[in-house]
Amino acid sequence: MTLLDAARDVRERAYAPYSKFKVGAAIRGTSGQVYRGCNVENVAYPEGTCAEAGAIALMVASGETELIEVAVIADSPSPVPPCGGCRQKLAEFGKPDTPVLLATTSGVTLSTTIGELLPGRFDISHMSGIE
Ligand code: THU
Repeated sequence: MTLLDAARDVRERAYAPYSKFKVGAAIRGTSGQVYRGCNVENVAYPEGTCAEAGAIALMVASGETELIEVAVIADSPSPVPPCGGCRQKLAEFGKPDTPVLLATTSGVTLSTTIGELLPGRFDISHMSGIE
């Protein structure tokens, strides 16, 4: 099963009764293990979480903190772009050249990288004045 297949599968479990927009994400850790996540919405809208965040939480809870590949899929007209917050979350655990595959359920894909998604990211070097 490809990483995109894993994202497509977990998307079916998304809890998105408010937006009706189901998203699936799959990430591969350095061990080769695949971690999946889907969006989980809440009646208090800001409390909802994105698919990417769910996959990252599962990876970290499973003992890994480096990802080497990402796939995200949704039923959108063009390959679904991760939100700004998820770009920063992916950047925390990946590298600028880490491949990210964005896809629609109808089969359109876009290959990009974490660095292309979040140029000029905030990172630890910006906190060098902190004791
Ligand atoms: N969403 C994700 O899960 N990931 C993205 O990359 C974009 C947006 C979710 C959040 C919310 O549940 C729904 O899509 C509509 O914004």
